[in-house]
Amino acid sequence: MEATRIGVLGRGLLPATEPVLRADDLGVLRGDGLFETMHLRAARPWLRDAHLARLRAGAAAVELPLPDDAALVELLDTVAAGWPAEVEGALRLVCTRGPEGGGPPTVYATLAAVPTTARQARRDGVRVATLSLGVPADARPELDWLPAGIKSTSYGASTAARRWAARAGVDDVLWISSDGFVLEGPTANVVWLAGETLCTVPARRTGILPGTTVAWLLANAAEIGCHAAERMITPAGLRDADGVWLTSSVRGLVEVRALDGEPLPRSARTDALRELLGFPLP
Ligand SMILES: Cc1ncc(COP(=O)(O)O)c(C=O)c1O
Repeated sequence: MEATRIGVLGRGLLPATEPVLRADDLGVLRGDGLFETMHLRAARPWLRDAHLARLRAGAAAVELPLPDDAALVELLDTVAAGWPAEVEGALRLVCTRGPEGGGPPTVYATLAAVPTTARQARRDGVRVATLSLGVPADARPELDWLPAGIKSTSYGASTAARRWAARAGVDDVLWISSDGFVLEGPTANVVWLAGETLCTVPARRTGILPGTTVAWLLANAAEIGCHAAERMITPAGLRDADGVWLTSSVRGLVEVRALDGEPLPRSARTDALRELLGFPLP
């Protein structure tokens, strides 16, 4: 198994035991930072430019100064150089606000093999429970002070949801708005098939994270004979769909096999969708 690699902007590759962040970095103190996680395949970050574009949009929204793309790409290349082509990697690019009281952001990248559990989920699917987020579906984008749809390092709600899932005996959750609409998972978008139309939740209207994986999947849906659409849906609507999946950069595409304890029918399209995205089975 490949050890985790760490690279820091301006410092190059470091031993994984070497300190990278200052104790007063606002990324640590306040979760004030942004990150992206990319799927490294054949030793190259898939959808790298889409990830960099989302990072830049997030940085503009939270007024975080970012180095230029060339510097970020050089950092990613440094960390990925020589990674074995046959090992799937999870390549994370992190940019924190930097030391309290002012200071340059801390920019670093980590690379590790994709965890076996993520790869197994592609094969076995996941059992999911719905979990209320307590706000109406369109409430967050209406607040002009609140940056919506950014990939912030502040993942407190996501880790709480993951702990709740473990207590509830499910693999993952789907957040539901207070007016009853499906939003997203703590680390994934939801995709469903309605007839021949592959659908996902509109990010702009709901303030969810605009996923790079789902965007690519819907943009290329025609290759497997599907249309693509953004729609709102309820949990009952998902139960009537012709297939339900979660998408994210590292897991890829995993089928939702049960929702709130009720089994969902298996879709004949799962393999075609996963292969279209280029994610292997374990
Ligand atoms: C909240 C949330 N939604 C969706 C996603 C999926 O986004 P992507 O496909 O770009 O990994 C993630 C990824 O971690 C996420 O954290």
